[in-house]
Amino acid sequence: MVDLLSLQKSFILAHLGPGDVAADFTMGNGNDTLFLSETVGEAGRVYAFDLQESALVSTRRYLQEKGAPENYTLICASHHRLKEFISEPIKAGMFNLGYLPGGDEKGITTKRATTLPAVQAALDILAPDGILLVAVYPGHEEGRLEGEMLADFAASLSRYQICSSCFRILNSPAAPFFYLFEKAPDKAVRRPGRAAKNAARAERLAKQINDASRRLQEQEKQEKAEGRE
Ligand SMILES: C[S@@+](CC[C@H](N)C(=O)[O-])C[C@H]1O[C@@H](n2cnc3c(N)ncnc32)[C@H](O)[C@@H]1O
Repeated sequence: MVDLLSLQKSFILAHLGPGDVAADFTMGNGNDTLFLSETVGEAGRVYAFDLQESALVSTRRYLQEKGAPENYTLICASHHRLKEFISEPIKAGMFNLGYLPGGDEKGITTKRATTLPAVQAALDILAPDGILLVAVYPGHEEGRLEGEMLADFAASLSRYQICSSCFRILNSPAAPFFYLFEKAPDKAVRRPGRAAKNAARAERLAKQINDASRRLQEQEKQEKAEGRE
């Protein structure tokens, strides 16, 4: 059976490693913050956001209990303001939309009006070959609408800059699902395109022609020399 959580982690792990910068845009109780913190290690950095002070308190306690590396910055602010707090590119970002499980301030959920600008801003600061994962909970009305809004947004992006995909269990429509946004790698590390291949072929051909004409000239010189003898 598909395990969406392991699938999410495997995507993140394909892009994120020790020393990288990552962000958890919906900290909650800190499960994703811990995963990111352990993945980037001592040399990396993790920014984590939540609107609720209680989320920061429980996440700090959880990270300390688990002995997480001290590489995290916990921020009590809405994620759509992320550029005020992060001034470097991130290699991975996670949104886990919806309500804080077991939260004491009932009714605080992510909302379309801030989710969309937050996702857009996170894509802006995503490093080349970076990844953004957005988990959606369609079991409540605002979650369902966030999912629809993000589907339109994901489909509107240029696939040459950002590849957007969706992972969903089709015969369980109320189950959580997630969107994945992967930024194109830097041009420098991309495989050579057609123009580069043509230039290399033209260079090889020019070299072959030069070599052949040099051999011809040497042959003519030798024939002349032999004719004189
Ligand atoms: C489903 S929970 C996240 C669970 C979390 N990833 C974990 O591992 O426990 C969603 C969280 O998003 C937070 N949230 C809601 N609106 C937000 C906003 N505009 N900016 C930042 N966090 C927000 C909620 O307070 C809640 O804690």
